[in-house]
This record gives sequence, structure tokens and C-alpha cells, in this order.
Amino acid sequence: MRVIITGSAEQLAEAGCQIVARQLQQKPHSVLGLATGSTPIMLYQQLVNLHRQGKLSFKDVTSFNLDEYYLLEGTHPQSYRYFMNEYLFNAVDIDLASTHLPACLAGEDPQQSAVGYELAIQAAGGIDLQILGIGANGHIGFNEPGSSLASRTRLKTLTAKTLADNSRMFRPDEYQPDLAMTMGVGTILEAKQIVILASGAQKADAVQHMVLGAVSARCPASALQLHPNVTLIIDEPAAAKLDHADYFRQAERKAQTL
Ligand code: PGA
Repeated sequence: MRVIITGSAEQLAEAGCQIVARQLQQKPHSVLGLATGSTPIMLYQQLVNLHRQGKLSFKDVTSFNLDEYYLLEGTHPQSYRYFMNEYLFNAVDIDLASTHLPACLAGEDPQQSAVGYELAIQAAGGIDLQILGIGANGHIGFNEPGSSLASRTRLKTLTAKTLADNSRMFRPDEYQPDLAMTMGVGTILEAKQIVILASGAQKADAVQHMVLGAVSARCPASALQLHPNVTLIIDEPAAAKLDHADYFRQAERKAQTL
């Protein structure tokens, strides 16, 4: 795993933005895997800036998001469709018809929706570049601890920890779903390239386990150790418990000289 330790949230977003921009410049018809949450917001803002400067186009891009709350319509302000439209899709030239989230609405069969999502990813040629965040409990997407490391897209029950972490997004009187449709760990591992972002001290334990802990369903992100092309971009607080942090810094300095 390549580990980039950055000095600030802005540098973290910048490092992620460079990788996405390079991908789109090399392959304008890329298939992107996208994530929601607080961490990628600044990355999306930087991508929007590049687009506004005429340096980046999304017109041929297809996207698949990691997850979506069960039964939340895309017009609901807490839905991940709403988030993506707000922070990225409506601000760039992507064709909304080419943007996908694993939605499962009232009256739809969750199993059929899940299989349909997997088939759509395959039909698009697979994901070229997957953006990920990590939960403080080590989840990727909504693959909570205990998820099979071979799991595919499915409906997942959210843990009390995730519900508590995400409750800040919901008003006290607002319904907060405790189920979400999420790509599986196995689905994520099939992306050709993965960039995972983590910011803040609350992520330090999960980062240490992901990079150097046992590959275990206890920390679903640890499955990324088995993927050949993962870049982890973190800030100093998220790196605080990372053994060998100096080695990772040294390796990055070395890489700059090659
Ligand atoms: P966050 O969420 O970016 O809001 O911390 C990350 C995640 O839960 O995957």
C-alpha cells in the first residue's frame, strides 16, 4: 500500500485530486467509484475548480457510488444522490444518466437491485478508480465489521457506531435509516485502482489496523492489503498511531526522486 502523509486537509484533497485528474486525462471514458462523507468534500471541490478552469472534463465519465440509504429518494437532502448532485455532479459536465447509486426504493426488491448494480458495473467495464473513505470502525462503504471480505452489493444493517457517527447529518426529528445498500468488499477489491482518504484523530486506530493489522472482517478496510494498487492519503492526526510512519514518509521522498 502506498501511504502519503500530508500536512493538512487541503493537501490531502490536493493529492487525491491529482490522482483523479491524471486518471481522467489519461482515460476520459473512465469509470469512477465515488464516496460520500465529510472527507471527500474538499476533493470534490478541487475537482470542480479544475473543471471551472477548463482543465478537467467529466463528460465521458461513468460513475458508481459505494452506497445509498435504503428507501431514501434522491430528492431527500440526506440521500447520497442528493449529496453527489450537490458537491460534484451538478457542478461539472458529467451526464447525470451516467451516474449511478445503489438505490433501493419502496416496492423494489433489494436482492434484485443489488444484482442489477453489480451487473451495471460489469457492463460499464469495471471501475477504473475507486475513491474511498474509512469509518472510525474500519468500514469501507457500509461494510461494517463482520462483513465478508468477499461480499458483493447488498443491503447492510448499520452498526450503532456508524449511526452515532452519522447522526450529525440528520436533524433530531429527522428519520435516520439504519439500513443501506452498499457495494461489497469483494466488489471494491475489483476496482483497478483505489484511493482511500482519512482525516482526523478519530480515524487513527482504523488506519493502523487497515495498513498493518491482520486482514480481518474486524476491520473490513484491512482487505485492501490484498489489492495491488492502493494509495492511502492521510493527515498527521490520522497517521498518529501508524507504526512505521517514518518509513512511509521516507518511501514517498524516495519516490519523488525516481
Ligand atoms: P467521513 O465518513 O468521511 O464522514 O468520516 C467516512 C466513512 O464512513 O466511510
